[in-house]
Amino acid sequence: MKILQTQNLSKFFEGLKALNRVNIGVEKGSITLVIGPNGSGKTTFINTVSGFYRADEGKVLFEGKDITNKPPHEISKLGIVRTFQIPQPLKKMTVLENLLIAPEGYGERIFHSVSGRWLKEEEDIVEKAFKILEFLKLDHLWDSEAQNLSGGQLKLLEVARAMMKDAKLIIMDEPIAGVNPVLSHSMLERFVELKEMGISFLIVEHRLDIVLKYTDHIYVMANGSVIAEGREEDILNNPKVVEVYLGAQDSEIECGV
Ligand SMILES: Nc1ncnc2c1ncn2[C@@H]1O[C@H](COP(=O)(O)OP(=O)(O)OP(=O)(O)O)[C@@H](O)[C@H]1O
Ligand SMILES: [Mg+2]
Repeated sequence: MKILQTQNLSKFFEGLKALNRVNIGVEKGSITLVIGPNGSGKTTFINTVSGFYRADEGKVLFEGKDITNKPPHEISKLGIVRTFQIPQPLKKMTVLENLLIAPEGYGERIFHSVSGRWLKEEEDIVEKAFKILEFLKLDHLWDSEAQNLSGGQLKLLEVARAMMKDAKLIIMDEPIAGVNPVLSHSMLERFVELKEMGISFLIVEHRLDIVLKYTDHIYVMANGSVIAEGREEDILNNPKVVEVYLGAQDSEIECGV
């Protein structure tokens, strides 16, 4: 069953077809990867699915329901959580605090818990936060300020915040960019465990050398359109994909970029 499916989704920027009739689906409990050259529309796709951009044409279906052009907070309440870099002010808060302020509508309570006694509900939330931190192997850092975390640990903290919101579909734009290979692999191994628990992932990433073996299905975009889809072996051997993306990637690597 597809948890997410777009139907001819289009987004135009003053004549530029940033998304041109895009059909991308995410199977429930899968890790689905979207790749493609710079400017091919990957981030625009994420923004349009998660409600940050309005679609000009086409539909977004989530769990079979039409959610096209719902506002981002409503989409997030339905269980589609797009992760964001932890903003500066939150970096001064501890890892645990970052989780406690993540769930919708719980903002008020955190101030009570910082200033005084915990309510029962707060205890439940703290317990949930610790379980998530343990799962992601971040629990030893619970009282560290987020600004002291490494790049990879900060990415995991973004995932932890998505899990606090009971995400059904986690969307991440270049989650391992700038993360060292060892932590990248361990992050992706956590994603595999989460998908086995039924959480679905839609990931955009350029680091194919690391990410490919963890993915179930791949879409390739170029100039706002999907030009290929399939499993790793289909994609790597597809001449169109080699021409517009993989060939260019190799030469970038050769140039040391
Ligand atoms: N808010 C915007 N206003 C105008 N043009 C935009 C906007 N956002 C994206 N674009 C354009 O849409 C096209 C697709 O951009 P997008 O950021 O989605 O590419 P991408 O595949 O994510 O690229 P990258 O791999 O470099 O992140 C580009 O030509 C870009 O300049
Ligand atoms: Mg992008």
